[in-house]
Amino acid sequence: MSKITVSKLWKMKEKGEKITMTTAYDYPTALLGEKAGLDMILVGDSVGMVVLGYPNPIPVTVDDIIHHTKAVVRGAKTPLIVADMPFMSYHISPEETKRNAARLIQEGGADAVKLEGGKEVAPMVKAITDTGIPVQAHIGLMPQRASVGGAFKVQGKDAETAKAILEDAKALEAAGAFSVVIEFVTTEAGKLITEGLKMPTIGIGAGPHCDGQVVLSHDLLGYYETQPPFVKLYADLNETITDAFKAFKTDVRASKYPDAAHSVAMDKKEAEKLKNS
Ligand code: KIV
Repeated sequence: MSKITVSKLWKMKEKGEKITMTTAYDYPTALLGEKAGLDMILVGDSVGMVVLGYPNPIPVTVDDIIHHTKAVVRGAKTPLIVADMPFMSYHISPEETKRNAARLIQEGGADAVKLEGGKEVAPMVKAITDTGIPVQAHIGLMPQRASVGGAFKVQGKDAETAKAILEDAKALEAAGAFSVVIEFVTTEAGKLITEGLKMPTIGIGAGPHCDGQVVLSHDLLGYYETQPPFVKLYADLNETITDAFKAFKTDVRASKYPDAAHSVAMDKKEAEKLKNS
């Protein structure tokens, strides 16, 4: 398969072909995402919670995202790789925003960047897209904001707020965003926003009408302490890995591992010499 590009994603929306995206933060997961034929891989600031053990994404830095993006880019050649812009990396000035976006592309090797926010971040989206770097927007529930004074609750519960989110999305599209992630909104809001935009919408807990879906790999694989209510488990790695660790411990304690099959024996003659020396 050839490299997924922004124009391929737009064609997929036109044809009604659903777009698939998950997160990866390391080389082996990226390799498997490539093997499975996923369209996009996000190096999300969710790395802060699901890999680094922080309570929220706020401590994640541009350097952290670059470090993980480098590993993902080495593993996944076909999917479009999106690197998340962490908290406060796109707020201070258009110059600093452009510098940080450029680092994710130049040092990390990402194909595009993602940032959270509504119409108030449209000038930052424009500043980045004017340089030629593709930007994916992120509206609805915004984890960076929910972590500082907000709450992790469903958005777009009434007609007014659903229309307000659509207005935000339109401003981001006008500023040059190539796609938008819509997180944790009602099904009706997800449909309204998807039908109101030319760019592809990628839902996460936003119902079935979005042009594509993204779910954190750790969530869909069951490889984290808890999952949000909209997640369907496609594997249970928590159980698989715990069982494997327990079996390893049992074997070691019982001196069953390593056995002859998993050890390297000396040449018989040498072993005899050693014994007699
Ligand atoms: O950081 C992340 O993984 C994200 C997803 C919630 C889309 O932004």
